[in-house]
Amino acid sequence: MLLSTIYAVLFYLATAVFVVGLAYRIRLYARTPAPLKIPTTPAPVTQSGVVLRMFREVAFFESLFKSNKWTWLFGWIFHVSMLLIVLRHLRYFTEPVWFWVNWVQPFGMYAGFAMLAGLFALWGRRFLVERVRYISSPSDHLMLILLIGIAASGLMMKFVAHTDIVTLKAFVLGVMYFSWQPLPADPVLLVHLGLVLILMFIFPFSKLLHAPGVFFSPTRNQVDNPREQRHLAPWAAALDPADRQKPGSK
Ligand code: HEM
Repeated sequence: MLLSTIYAVLFYLATAVFVVGLAYRIRLYARTPAPLKIPTTPAPVTQSGVVLRMFREVAFFESLFKSNKWTWLFGWIFHVSMLLIVLRHLRYFTEPVWFWVNWVQPFGMYAGFAMLAGLFALWGRRFLVERVRYISSPSDHLMLILLIGIAASGLMMKFVAHTDIVTLKAFVLGVMYFSWQPLPADPVLLVHLGLVLILMFIFPFSKLLHAPGVFFSPTRNQVDNPREQRHLAPWAAALDPADRQKPGSK
């Protein structure tokens, strides 16, 4: 029971760091001034156009597609697979399990392999492409190793060393509803969960912040209308008394 308690406490701590850290970062991004109009052109000239552009960027990695097809292919495969896997994992956190989570199950299983393949390809790129190798820092490698470790240990549980899913689910729900239950002491599960804990702890300090960060990128989220409407950041307006009288101007 000691092990279960340690993992339960670690999950509370990791969740706190993840949620508070992420909220702090997002607040920081939201408050960072965007003094200039710098949308990458050709850019949408209306707000709904920006929403559509952002959707294409988030769902299909549009600008990465334009810049590098191989990185796009492996990056996109990895991210989409991870999404399917995370959705598949919802069955451990919900009771009763939502019908669409059941639908995702078979896809999620193959996604495990696709995620691993995508990650290895992205890691290979950091060794094989010379200019990428030159700019790769230890954290670039370590994040990939961490995600590979999570995917590999997950697949191990699925295909090699099964764990007791029913007991695990009781543990997870117990953590969520503050009624602690024992965690199966299978080494591969402990590794899987340990790596997930590390991921949660470091997320708010890591390069993985590109996930919320993309929404705050001025080159992507600005409307291309500098001639129609003067661009004036709110903090700049506050500095200039003449501008303060024009609250509508952005
Ligand atoms: C507290 C969170 C998590 C728990 C309790 C958990 C638990 C599990 C379990 C029990 C399996 C084996 C599934 C089976 O035998 O059918 C598994 C598989 C897997 N997990 Fe996790 N996991 C968690 C978080 C994550 C995260 C955050 C990722 C990815 C970033 C991940 C990636 C995988 C992968 C790739 C597999 C193999 C494919 C599959 O069966 O879906 N896991 N996980």
